[in-house]
Amino acid sequence: MASLTIRKLDEHVKTYLRLRSAKNRRSVEEEVRVILRELIEGREEPLTPFAAPPAPSSAPTLQRTGAAPEASVTLIIGGGIAAYKSLDLIRRLKERRVEVRCVLTKAAQQFVTPLAVSALSHERVYTDLFDPQSEFDAGHIRLARDCDLIVVAPATADLMAKIANGHADDLASAILLATNRKVLLAPAMNPLMWNNAATRRNVTQLQRDGLVLIGPNSGEMAEAGEAGVGRMSEAIEIANAAERLLRPPVPKPLAGKRVLITAGPTHEPIDPVRYIANRSSGKQGFAIAAAAQAAGAEVILVSGPVDLDDPQGVTVKHVESARQMLEQVQAALPADIAIFAAAVADWRVANEGEQKLKKTSAGMPPLQLVENPDILATISKLTDKRPPLVIGFAAETEHLIDNAKSKLARKGCDWIVANDVSPATGVMGGDRNTVHLISRKNGEIAVDSWPVMTKEQVAIELVAHIAKSATDKSREPAS
Ligand code: CTP
Repeated sequence: MASLTIRKLDEHVKTYLRLRSAKNRRSVEEEVRVILRELIEGREEPLTPFAAPPAPSSAPTLQRTGAAPEASVTLIIGGGIAAYKSLDLIRRLKERRVEVRCVLTKAAQQFVTPLAVSALSHERVYTDLFDPQSEFDAGHIRLARDCDLIVVAPATADLMAKIANGHADDLASAILLATNRKVLLAPAMNPLMWNNAATRRNVTQLQRDGLVLIGPNSGEMAEAGEAGVGRMSEAIEIANAAERLLRPPVPKPLAGKRVLITAGPTHEPIDPVRYIANRSSGKQGFAIAAAAQAAGAEVILVSGPVDLDDPQGVTVKHVESARQMLEQVQAALPADIAIFAAAVADWRVANEGEQKLKKTSAGMPPLQLVENPDILATISKLTDKRPPLVIGFAAETEHLIDNAKSKLARKGCDWIVANDVSPATGVMGGDRNTVHLISRKNGEIAVDSWPVMTKEQVAIELVAHIAKSATDKSREPAS
């Protein structure tokens, strides 16, 4: 018969047996015999209150807190006394919603432990170029590329020399040689090392190669009695520098410019309940207003009745009719740039009914139409407050370019954005647009045809052209 060694049982089974045998005043060996007999006879005692504890999980899982990361950094920690600051740096980066994966050089492990780094980063720590766990699929390449930025802190004199000379004999240098991401170095070393001709050469080379340096600062060294330039920047300074590289400030090419835009249809009343309108949704004009605002301009949007939310940061004047639109446009002057994207009704009813028109036996009431003011032409022909750049739209259903060119001349504006609004294109009310930018260039009429784009893309492209025109003098104003 087989004999059973209690010692070889799992801990929780042993505990169960000990408690159960004590309760029943039997030896553990005797208790095992009873359990086996009960099992065979089908009447085993319920396990409670001695239920087995839950099996321990293989590794404790760290709780991730806070919002989802928005960027990721590979942080290479070099071997220097300043390595302790990199522990704070991990925290500072994570506060900024940056995911941090850390690599420790061999020397770094003399100053900070992989355990501390892993506990703070909530990630495994990488130390070895030939680690079979991460290198089975070229892990150093992933660490080099699956991130938005590489930060080296502290960047020791030795590590900087290796990067400057393209060495790749350990995990840190191999990552730095294999990366196509921006690299931020936070040097830390003794002032004599920092000022050494070899380090000076390496710094120049690294900057030429496009690496960015933060610090070092000047101050006391870890070595007693030594001071000078060589202290690693504080964690918060490095985190700020990393953030600037990860989220570069959005350029504001229209900062300081005042942009006036018209958008949407106009409604021309027939009587208190009826009006003449068109199919314009206002989407293109609203998109231009949002793009100009994002480019830093002060934007005034004069809009006819539309079903759109006011763009953020834009002053919106809501109007109904063409005459109200003209009034608001004139009130908004002066402006640096005026863009007339509205589909203004060409005519209004001369004899607008004060009461609702009724059906009578006399038949349909005659609607007498009169021409509306042409807002674009009026503003283009101003002598005093004419904006330096006036842009009109040409909504055409045939002979697009020819009609747009003659509109440019007739209205006296500087550029025309021509678009085909025939029903088949789906432009009116739709989300996409195919446009041609018509302008005067070196004395000639130039036509730039853009591919099909969303109305937002058209807006961004137009704003980019406007920003460029401030520096490109080949586009001539009409006057
Ligand atoms: N426009 C305007 N005021 C008007 C009519 C048009 O400001 N009363 C502007 C539009 O905002 C657009 C340009 O003039 O920037 C051309 O508009 P469009 O409707 O294409 O042309 P029309 O002037 O109506 O000319 P046509 O009837 O020949 O198409």
